[in-house]
Amino acid sequence: MAKAKLILENKEYEFPIMEGTEGEKGIDINDLYTRTGHITLDNGFQNTGSCASAITFIDGDKGILRYRGIDVAELAEKSSFIETAYLIIYGKLPTVEERRTFSTLLTENSMLHEDMIQYFVGMPPNAHPMAILSTMVNALAIFYPHSFDEDFEEGDVSAFNLIVARLISKIRTIAAFSYKKSIGEPYVYPRPDLKYCMNFLNMMFSSPVKPYEFDDEAEKILNMLLILHADHEQNCSTSTVRLVGSSKVNLYSSVCAGICALWGPLHGGANQEVIEMLEGIHKQGLKVSDIIEKSKKKESNFRLHGFGHRVYKNFDPRAIILKRVSREFLEKRNITDPLLNIALELEEAVLKDDYFIERKLYPNVDFYSGIIYRELGIPVDMFTVMFAIGRMPGWIAQWKEMHDTKPFKIGRPRQIYIGPTKKSYS
Ligand code: CMC
Repeated sequence: MAKAKLILENKEYEFPIMEGTEGEKGIDINDLYTRTGHITLDNGFQNTGSCASAITFIDGDKGILRYRGIDVAELAEKSSFIETAYLIIYGKLPTVEERRTFSTLLTENSMLHEDMIQYFVGMPPNAHPMAILSTMVNALAIFYPHSFDEDFEEGDVSAFNLIVARLISKIRTIAAFSYKKSIGEPYVYPRPDLKYCMNFLNMMFSSPVKPYEFDDEAEKILNMLLILHADHEQNCSTSTVRLVGSSKVNLYSSVCAGICALWGPLHGGANQEVIEMLEGIHKQGLKVSDIIEKSKKKESNFRLHGFGHRVYKNFDPRAIILKRVSREFLEKRNITDPLLNIALELEEAVLKDDYFIERKLYPNVDFYSGIIYRELGIPVDMFTVMFAIGRMPGWIAQWKEMHDTKPFKIGRPRQIYIGPTKKSYS
């Protein structure tokens, strides 16, 4: 086995090198502190592997993203969100029978406990849907208090499956109800005869006076959007889910923490910021070049939303797909969206700009997704909620993988203390 040598205070240590199935290499420093009394410092975990994982593979230089070995572009074209969710969580594509059982379980768990409706009643109509979502997902732990670990025998697959179904199915109902609450319309309940995405669109856009006109194209594109968001290995929200879950708190609360992390504008919240930025440019007649210049000035504290990524340093494969699909979708419907034209102009200018070239900043998943969500009729402040619905299978799979890792370890980073040395109280 390959080894890494470390020389510390004239003493030499060897550490094993772990190699992943795609050739990624990492120095295994699990016993660094016990052997050397030193820790590592890595601001923002830029070089720290927090786990070994068999779920998602990303090659940031080549723009590769695969779930359980299957390329995301292939899944986006051929699969459905529910099938992909199954793949991510259970490690393989479902058989026809497994797919049917999973769908039935999702349908049976799509409703909210009627008492949960009272939560919506008490919330102000202008509450941000991400705040509502995190609150309601954590509230699932109140209404379904059995945590996987305490109340079910280790290895009880049906108990885990039930929690999976509740989370994946109910998050969609919560999201649609929060929208109905914000516009003062009656809640539309999930229907057992509709598939996952069509059911969501129906809950969002049906009303007692105007039923939703089923739109197969919208259903297809929503499936694809959710697939593209379904997992992304150890990003900020997923690492949060793992860290919170490592205290052995229940899965609902772990995922709730992930939703809160996702909300931030540097992470999933960027999709809302992108559209607001494009709308700002459009409405105020700003020049794309001025926005770009502003984003380059550190003192402006402004970043070009939807550009840059910690891992992708060439292109984000999700952004490539979404750019193409957003154009095709609008063309098919004969829609000219000025925001798409601004987005295309912005991207073209950025890709020629030395500042962005040197820093390897390219459009990310959040740059084009909002254009499509807008056309689907999803309100801007719900864009990050859509990201959360899509990311749910990834959070669950990562939580389960962390949960099953032996030996089990609570997540607990260290620090280098730089505060005052001992001084007296008086
Ligand atoms: N606009 C202008 N400058 C940028 C941008 C941007 N969007 N992103 C990075 N930079 C600059 C940054 O100022 C820094 O410059 P310098 O080297 O001169 O100090 C350099 O590029 C490296 O930036 P960083 O913050 O060290 O890079 P990171 O890998 O830590 O951060 C990021 C990644 C996504 C947080 C960052 O690129 C960013 O803030 N982007 C805008 C927000 C965004 O679109 N987020 C969505 C990410 S994709 C969805 C998801 O998975 O969350």
